[in-house]
Amino acid sequence: MYLYHYGIKELPFTLTPNTSYFFGLPSHKEALAVLLTALKTGEGFIKVTGEVGTGKTLICRKLLNELPGDFVTAYIPNPFLSPAELRRAVANELNVALTDHSDQQEFTHRIQQRLIHIHQQNKGVVLIIDEAQALPLESIEALRLMTNLETESRKLLQVLLFGQPELDQKLALPELRQLKQRITFSYTLRLMDADQVFQYVRHRMAVAGYKGRELFNRKCCERLFKASKGTPRIVNVLCHKSLMLAYGEGKKEVTIQHVNLAIQDTEAALLPNSHMRLIVIIACIILLALAATFAYESWLL
Ligand SMILES: Nc1ncnc2c1ncn2[C@@H]1O[C@H](COP(=O)(O)OP(=O)(O)OP(=O)(O)O)[C@@H](O)[C@H]1O
Ligand SMILES: [Mg+2]
Repeated sequence: MYLYHYGIKELPFTLTPNTSYFFGLPSHKEALAVLLTALKTGEGFIKVTGEVGTGKTLICRKLLNELPGDFVTAYIPNPFLSPAELRRAVANELNVALTDHSDQQEFTHRIQQRLIHIHQQNKGVVLIIDEAQALPLESIEALRLMTNLETESRKLLQVLLFGQPELDQKLALPELRQLKQRITFSYTLRLMDADQVFQYVRHRMAVAGYKGRELFNRKCCERLFKASKGTPRIVNVLCHKSLMLAYGEGKKEVTIQHVNLAIQDTEAALLPNSHMRLIVIIACIILLALAATFAYESWLL
């Protein structure tokens, strides 16, 4: 691969949400600040939504690393689970011992006992659910019931939901209105702008160990921004391909042609293509001509 060519120690644009590559984009920093504040208030549900590939899983992992020691965490990365499976997953995460024969009531009882026990140690419990849009409706209800246990001053279990915009559609369903009302904090991740794409790309290159001249100049990053709409995952794919192309030509710098080729080779990336632009220009000319004719005829009358 191109590591030696660019003098880097690892691939800078892998798709794994690796926290050592975290770049403090304003939206991501805000999200983390909201989450930490919300968790300190000890209230029920907190929700973070964002389009596909905007960094939700990365923020989950960052939060898991950054939560102070007075929080016990349970992390469910893939919640396409029935209520029973969800309860078992939560129990597992909280080190609750269960036999295969434990019935649902016993499940709930044991989880509650464990929550009380943790609370007595002056700690809070946070259940973090990634991909929350995949939670079946019945499991969302099971989740709500799990959070019912509370002391006079705070909930024993706080739930943090990370999901794609489909999560909001789900929560808008009438049968979930009770849960929706309990969401005390929510945050929507924003996409990057062109300057942020530039900083983001530079940051990832630096973390990978790159020390040379700017590899992706402003023009390239502007193009990356347009094609990705500022979505980090798509930027990663395009940068990786651009680096491969430049490497293939033995070049030490990525050019706009490399970026363009990378875009053409990537389905998720879109540039307003020249056909579309031509159609829009012709439509504008026709409209202008019609308007001019109309104005001229009105003037003649
Ligand atoms: N602030 C950031 N700093 C560094 N890398 C980032 C940042 N935000 C996103 N990324 C990178 O973008 C890619 C996509 O991020 P992630 O997998 O967290 O997105 P997601 O929102 O969870 O996507 P999905 O909706 O498909 O689950 C990952 O490679 C991740 O490392
Ligand atoms: Mg994710």
